[in-house]
Amino acid sequence: MTKKLRFGIVGCGVIGPYHAQAITSLPDAELVAVADLIPERAQKLAEKFQVTPYGDFQEMLAREQLDVVDICTPSGLHREHASQAMRSRRHVIVEKPMEISSAAIAEMLRVQQETGVKLAVISQHRFDPATRQVYDLVEEQAFGRLVLGNAAVPWWRSQAYYDSGEWRGTWELDGGGVLMNQSIHSIDLLQWLMGPVRSVYAYTDTLAHRMETEDVAVAVLRFANGALGTISATTGAYPGVSTRIEIYGDKGSAVIEDDRLSYLHLARDDSEEVGPYGVAPEQRVPSSPAGSSAAQDPAALSFRSHALQIADMIRAIRENGTPLLDGYAARHSVEIILGIYESTRTHKEVTLS
Ligand SMILES: NC(=O)c1ccc[n+]([C@@H]2O[C@H](COP(=O)([O-])OP(=O)(O)OC[C@H]3O[C@@H](n4cnc5c(N)ncnc54)[C@H](O)[C@@H]3O)[C@@H](O)[C@H]2O)c1
Repeated sequence: MTKKLRFGIVGCGVIGPYHAQAITSLPDAELVAVADLIPERAQKLAEKFQVTPYGDFQEMLAREQLDVVDICTPSGLHREHASQAMRSRRHVIVEKPMEISSAAIAEMLRVQQETGVKLAVISQHRFDPATRQVYDLVEEQAFGRLVLGNAAVPWWRSQAYYDSGEWRGTWELDGGGVLMNQSIHSIDLLQWLMGPVRSVYAYTDTLAHRMETEDVAVAVLRFANGALGTISATTGAYPGVSTRIEIYGDKGSAVIEDDRLSYLHLARDDSEEVGPYGVAPEQRVPSSPAGSSAAQDPAALSFRSHALQIADMIRAIRENGTPLLDGYAARHSVEIILGIYESTRTHKEVTLS
């Protein structure tokens, strides 16, 4: 029997416990140790999963035989923690965003190249069945010429959420607000499905919270394939409404609401000839309401998509292959967000390299 891969987690706040659940749900993985600067947090998670707690990440790296380290610390610490783990020859899974600046991302990629370990970045919604289905249809060119791609994230976070951690809503450690923290998931999916973004023009503001970074943003996009798009996002939309990703082409349209495919219509499935105004409303696929989600509650996540992504990393390690979302794939969503911030500052369209 193949040996189970041994995992350690650093950061036992909101998302760390989801990693613990995801890792322990996989037959090929074993959780060995957890670390947090706040020892009680490490202790609590360690007790639940019967593993060793550490108050010091370095000590966990030095003492434990680990194959993979999951980085679940504040976003602006990902470079530091991921690089330390990679330099100790551990494979790394790092939470989104990969990091909050281009320089930090470049350094992580450099360390990954030097050490030869695998680096995966969490974007768990790429593993949702609805996203996979739409991605496969895009690959088959089932939507024809893509013309428009929209991502809407009308979420709600209370002031208490932002006050719950000193790093939240700061430029230094969150790296941004609703875009860099919450909407990065949808931005990653949008650019994965529509293709790379060539340029952005944007407005952002802080309207409903006391925080440094933005809680509302709109951006218009031009994709490299010529299609147009939009991103609209806020954490000020009480009580939090479902996320929508819309993909429109001249041979089909799809809408993903939260992690469900709520609308799909492809010309290739039409049995009757379609008139100049498209398919009549009564013949369209009805869209069904989405359930409760992370739109209202940051902890209302399932660990299952994380488990699928961690399983993908295990596959990459075993086959000496590449994880679906390696550092090179993960940098795009951060670059789009940094472009949006630059456009807001300069009041100019920003072209992405
Ligand atoms: N994929 C998702 O859906 C998802 C959801 C929530 C958060 N996240 C990401 O996960 C990361 C953590 O977010 P969170 O909400 O869990 O934050 P959090 O503040 O709840 O938890 C972070 C933990 O890291 C610990 N920590 C900080 N510095 C440390 C250090 N030097 N050594 C050891 N531990 C240290 C803190 O004490 C804290 O317990 C962020 O990058 C965030 O963007 C992802």
